[in-house]
Amino acid sequence: MVTYQEAATAPLKNTGQIRLYDEDAFAGMRKACQLTARALDELAAMVQPGTTTEEIDRFVFQFGMDHGAIPATLNYRGYTKSSCTSINHVVCHGIPDAKPLREGDIVNIDVTYILDGWHGDSSRMYPVGRIKRAAERLLEVTHESMMRGIAAVEPGERTGAIGAAIQSYAEAERCSVVRDFCGHGVGLLFHDAPNILHYGSRNEGVEMRPGMIFTIEPMINLGRPHVKVLSDGWTAVTRDRSLSAQYEHTVGVTDTGCEIFTLSPGGLDRPGLPN
Ligand code: MF3
Ligand code: CO
Ligand code: CO
Repeated sequence: MVTYQEAATAPLKNTGQIRLYDEDAFAGMRKACQLTARALDELAAMVQPGTTTEEIDRFVFQFGMDHGAIPATLNYRGYTKSSCTSINHVVCHGIPDAKPLREGDIVNIDVTYILDGWHGDSSRMYPVGRIKRAAERLLEVTHESMMRGIAAVEPGERTGAIGAAIQSYAEAERCSVVRDFCGHGVGLLFHDAPNILHYGSRNEGVEMRPGMIFTIEPMINLGRPHVKVLSDGWTAVTRDRSLSAQYEHTVGVTDTGCEIFTLSPGGLDRPGLPN
């Protein structure tokens, strides 16, 4: 017996099957992802010493509401905020709170809006005031890692090509790649198959095909790759307390490579860094 509720949500379950989306879906993703990118653009001016991550989170909530979108993280598996804000040695899933940002901090802001059922998932690093040269280098390496992963997206190749491109570059730059979190299929679901590992080799993973949509969101550390999750059940930090950074784009596989849905409309893909 299948209940009405099961029947209604069956097409939206993560069954491990990889969805191939059509051109209408790509159009829906473009809109959702561009809304997320616009919010991340607006946040660039807001990230200053003294701003609290709760203020950032309120902006993300309100901007979504004003544009007919819902933050996907709200009430997701018990998470109660509209964004994740991960500062310094926080790797990911930092929970917005009342503590002001301080000069020299680096903060990742991760936003996912659901617009007309489509999920736009993206994050960027924001320097708070002037930051140290080592921190700036980590942001540059992490952004370049993500872009090299994106450049490895090609139909016929395996998803392992993405991880291989990221790992070989990041480690050559004497940084490490976090293993405990990965990119993911996205679209009508927030987290779907396939997993996108940010390390590994070319011949691993599944074959990429036109119509697949997923995120690439490497977390790169200045120190060792190991993380632990704090007692709040969410906040992941580096075990050695070294600085960690992350950027995230949502991409769709095309016949020749991929389309980056979450590119900044304002040229702010790397806020605070020279373009
Ligand atoms: N946006 C995150 C991602 O990139 C997921 C956050 S889930 C939360 O996949 F519950 F921690 F918000
Ligand atoms: Co994601
Ligand atoms: Co995200």
